[in-house]
Amino acid sequence: MNKSALFRIIIFMILALVLFELVAGKEGTWAVQEYPLIWLILGVLFLCAYLLETSVKTLERVLYNTLSDEAKERYDAATIARKEQEFSGIKSTYAKMLGSKPIEDEGEIELDHNYDGIRELDNNLPPWWVYLFYASIVFGGVVYLAKYHVFDIAPDQAEEYLQEVAIAEKEIEEYKKTAKNLIDVNTVTLLTDASDLKAGQGIFQDNCIACHKADGGGGIGPNLTDRHWILGGGIKNVFNTISEGGRDGKGMVSWKADLSPSEMAQVASYVMSFQGTTPAEPKEAEGEIWEDPDAPKDVAPAAPETQVDSTAVTFND
Ligand code: HEC
Repeated sequence: MNKSALFRIIIFMILALVLFELVAGKEGTWAVQEYPLIWLILGVLFLCAYLLETSVKTLERVLYNTLSDEAKERYDAATIARKEQEFSGIKSTYAKMLGSKPIEDEGEIELDHNYDGIRELDNNLPPWWVYLFYASIVFGGVVYLAKYHVFDIAPDQAEEYLQEVAIAEKEIEEYKKTAKNLIDVNTVTLLTDASDLKAGQGIFQDNCIACHKADGGGGIGPNLTDRHWILGGGIKNVFNTISEGGRDGKGMVSWKADLSPSEMAQVASYVMSFQGTTPAEPKEAEGEIWEDPDAPKDVAPAAPETQVDSTAVTFND
């Protein structure tokens, strides 16, 4: 297969791909990803194009061989002439766009400075550059100015920035919702939202009341309402106990395989809410009274703030 045939096939395949994208592609995804069948269709198209190119070539060769020698010569000459003609338009436009003088005519545009043998040519600005420059003036001075500043059709940079920030803020909110499961014993905090405590209550009732009783009074497991803790109080220790389980053989298993981190945080927060309540049949206290090391120590009461007499302040406008 010759180069131009290969070129035609490649262009054809690119066009087919672009067409599929235009017709079936949705924003943000590639049509070929969405409909893998397109690969198959493209494959078949490629095969067809290839067969067409090769059979035309073969046919040409067969016909060529049937020609008389004289006709062959004429045919060859015509082919060569056609080859020369090919792209002649493009070539001449290209030369025009460069706008440079052929090297043999450079004498005409040489300026008469001569600095230690370094001479200067008075070349024209290349037309391709000049046209681009005019085009950019037209675009900036007319299209852009009118669209963004005169008629305000589309949001300008500052508005676009604010829009993007708004979108990003929404994404952060979304992320935070799912990121609840990134909680571990170091980052867990006491949840106080009614919805979280409600969820925690549900988890507690489903999994824990057999040993701790619905009111946390205790049974097989210890009383969760008093200030005494075997394995440490405070949200972090409670979370850790639920996640990792109690001491071997006592009956409190690790729940991290059954509950997600956010669920463990919810049930731990619910357990904490038992503090200070009075269960129906409280089990006697076990463990030690837990003092939160992070709790603020007895802080001297703040000095009373100086009262501002609101009537004394007047505004002149
Ligand atoms: C099979 C019975 C059983 C179940 C079910 C159970 N626990 Fe326990 N739990 C215990 C026992 C026993 C202990 C004491 C462990 C120890 O002494 O090491 C305990 C200890 C605890 C402690 C620590 C108490 C302290 O004084 O330090 C917490 C908190 C706790 N459980 C919460 C839960 C939660 C939440 C669930 C449900 C997800 C649950 N438990 C399910 C038996 C159970």
